[in-house]
Amino acid sequence: MSGVSFLRRVSLHGFRGRSKSGVPQPETEKPPFKTAPIIPETQTVLLLHAARQPYELTENYPVSDLRDDHEVLVQTRAIGLNPVDWKAPELAGEVIKRRSSSRLKVLVISTDYRDLRKSAFQHYVVALDYNTVRLPPSISHEEGSTLGVAFVAAALSLGVCMGLDFSSVLDGPDIYSLIRQLPPDALAPDVRDECLNALPSQERAQPGDWLAVWGGSSTSANLTIQLARLAGLRTIAVADTAKHGVRLSNHRSTRPDLLVDSHDPARAVAVIRANAARNGGRGVRFAIDTRGKDSAGWLARALARDYDAEKNDGTKDKETNPAAAAGAPPSPPGTPDSDDEDSDDSDGGRPGDRPARPILPPDAHLIGLTGLPKEPAPAGVVYHTVPIKVFHEVPAVGRALVEWLERLLARGLVAPADIIDVERGLESVNRGLDRMRRGEISGGKLVVRVD
Ligand SMILES: NC(=O)c1ccc[n+]([C@@H]2O[C@H](COP(=O)([O-])OP(=O)(O)OC[C@H]3O[C@@H](n4cnc5c(N)ncnc54)[C@H](OP(=O)(O)O)[C@@H]3O)[C@@H](O)[C@H]2O)c1
Repeated sequence: MSGVSFLRRVSLHGFRGRSKSGVPQPETEKPPFKTAPIIPETQTVLLLHAARQPYELTENYPVSDLRDDHEVLVQTRAIGLNPVDWKAPELAGEVIKRRSSSRLKVLVISTDYRDLRKSAFQHYVVALDYNTVRLPPSISHEEGSTLGVAFVAAALSLGVCMGLDFSSVLDGPDIYSLIRQLPPDALAPDVRDECLNALPSQERAQPGDWLAVWGGSSTSANLTIQLARLAGLRTIAVADTAKHGVRLSNHRSTRPDLLVDSHDPARAVAVIRANAARNGGRGVRFAIDTRGKDSAGWLARALARDYDAEKNDGTKDKETNPAAAAGAPPSPPGTPDSDDEDSDDSDGGRPGDRPARPILPPDAHLIGLTGLPKEPAPAGVVYHTVPIKVFHEVPAVGRALVEWLERLLARGLVAPADIIDVERGLESVNRGLDRMRRGEISGGKLVVRVD
């Protein structure tokens, strides 16, 4: 991240307050402007001058210009804060400048951290049209600002790293196939391997497969489970059930097939392995971690081909397999060799006499949103990271995802995250981030209203 980055700016009006039940109520949406909006030359923004410092409210910062026909200017209305790290803000607002003049209520998904014009902590934000989602009337700015980055992370984890095809869900994208039709240089070198080589086509996730998500209370887990369920996967959420159990197990869209308590991680691993094996026979082949290296390590154990329950790890294979102990990749599945049947064995034996090669099951796949385990992958497990930049660097991918999200939201098939509270004004952002650091925001999003 560059030395100066935006935080979000918010004004002091707009949030209507709480209902009698204490639940924050979104502000009534303002009708779209009938006349062309007046765009000022300067604005107030929040700037971050150094790591671990509060953001500074800064006046007279220039409103950015649009550089090409794919860019639109969006007036910010609400910004969803990310509690764990805040380099991927997202916002909802209204398009006020583009080739056609109509004003649209949109969600801007800003994954391009390098372009300050696209940072969310300002009144006027430049966005790519293929990273901008038109919001239906049923979704408020506040709700819209909670779900974009989580949706993209979920869709790319499932669609690229796991190869899940969404075409059966409102004609959603088959991203695994889509990226293979792109010219080779469309993918940046640092994500090309993950996009093209990390998952063989025969290992793609299929309806009925199990997916375990650790950190089941997070917004990323929420969107991941929603999309996975829509595409026919069976889901396991690992979370603090004392805190989140009732909410997660009662939610219409995000209720997992199996909810596992994270308090005792070794027991959680045992429960995951036992239930998936009993219910599906094939065990769990896919897992996504949203918390960090340690929980990702537990998920690796849940996926390991040979699991030593007493040691709570996936090292059994290494003890018995010198190649695995040396860090070598697992043996590929035995492939019939057509020459074998006709060839003479040098020891005079007949074809078919030699011991059968072990046929190994397909690899399992672990995706780390917040880091991967310190330990090397156990035998039969492949680690993945989400190639998030294809969303803003590859227009075909960005467009396929935002158009699908528009259809999902319009049909009510994807629900926004819960809003825990709403702050008002850019000046409240630092207070909001402090509340997150103190762990006050859990199981949903803190939103800053900006008018
Ligand atoms: N690689 C990528 O492209 C990508 C994309 C999106 C997100 N991510 C990462 O994925 C992770 C989850 O993001 P998210 O937006 O889904 O999370 P989130 O909804 O903002 O929060 C996740 C959970 O973290 C816990 N939490 C809250 N405050 C905390 C604190 N101060 N310290 C530790 N934990 C805290 C809470 O769970 P409990 O109440 O259960 O403790 C909360 O429900 C983040 O690290 C984010 O950076 C990565």
